Amino acid sequence: MDATVTIDRYGVMGYPVSHSRSPVIHRLFALQTGQDMQYELLQVSPDKLETAIRQFQRTGGKGLNITVPHKNAVTRMVDQMSERASTAGAVNTIAFRGSEMYGDNTDGIGLLRDLGVNLGINLENANILILGAGGATRGIVGPLLEMQPASLRIANRTIEKAQMLVKQYAAQGPVSACRFDVVPVSDPYDLIINATSAGVRGEMPPYPEAAISANTFCYDLSYGLSATPFSVWAAQHGAARSVMGWGMLVEQAAESFKLWRGVRPDTAPVLKQMHINA
Ligand code: ATR
Repeated sequence: MDATVTIDRYGVMGYPVSHSRSPVIHRLFALQTGQDMQYELLQVSPDKLETAIRQFQRTGGKGLNITVPHKNAVTRMVDQMSERASTAGAVNTIAFRGSEMYGDNTDGIGLLRDLGVNLGINLENANILILGAGGATRGIVGPLLEMQPASLRIANRTIEKAQMLVKQYAAQGPVSACRFDVVPVSDPYDLIINATSAGVRGEMPPYPEAAISANTFCYDLSYGLSATPFSVWAAQHGAARSVMGWGMLVEQAAESFKLWRGVRPDTAPVLKQMHINA
């Protein structure tokens, strides 16, 4: 009799990926919920992505998280995709079901849970400003509009990219576009979300300081062990509160875990254990 016990395999694929906290988070989730599984860090370059995913599936892989720069490419590889992944044009979670590959995107719901449940921010009737119009923004505009804000403005260095998003989402809510240097501030912003990759590259764009009031909550989708340039900038310019995206990271992971294992872990102790609740 074959006594080999095969453990369910999961992992995160990115390039680079060594900085990823996903293995720590998923190991804590597995421990908490008593799930027997392993979670690996998989560095894969774009030209080897499809081969690596197929091989992971063939060798007993049950699910993957997909991170930068692969989220868009994977939309063309999956057999089926959730509506939210299709709208975002990005897959951050794959579930292998037999020979089928199912793609989902848990980033948007992860952000909503962090803002709504962990941080207690009411988005209904809020005035929201998003800085940036790249992949990160595409993943969150739809979910944010579902919360029925009073307005959602997308400011971007390259105005055409913001305008394209506005065109895509115009039917779903009050969304508009502008450049960084001309952000209208007639209505005070309740929430400013940094979705640019500027800080990651050590760059500091001319963020619109007039958009911050003493009631503005600032949220950086980026995160780090020390404060990000945007979160420092926001605090210095009088924001009510300035937070990095650790909570979104843990919440999106919990949604992936639920898709794979059928159980949603309690995120609060994991956030606490990681000592990262800003
Ligand atoms: P991704 O898809 O990974 O988000 P991206 O499409 O390159 O990457 O988007 C990065 C975002 O950060 C864009 O909105 C980009 O602005 P542009 O569309 O004008 O390129 C923004 N960004 C990056 N560096 C920036 C900088 N130094 N100043 C202003 N915006 C910056």
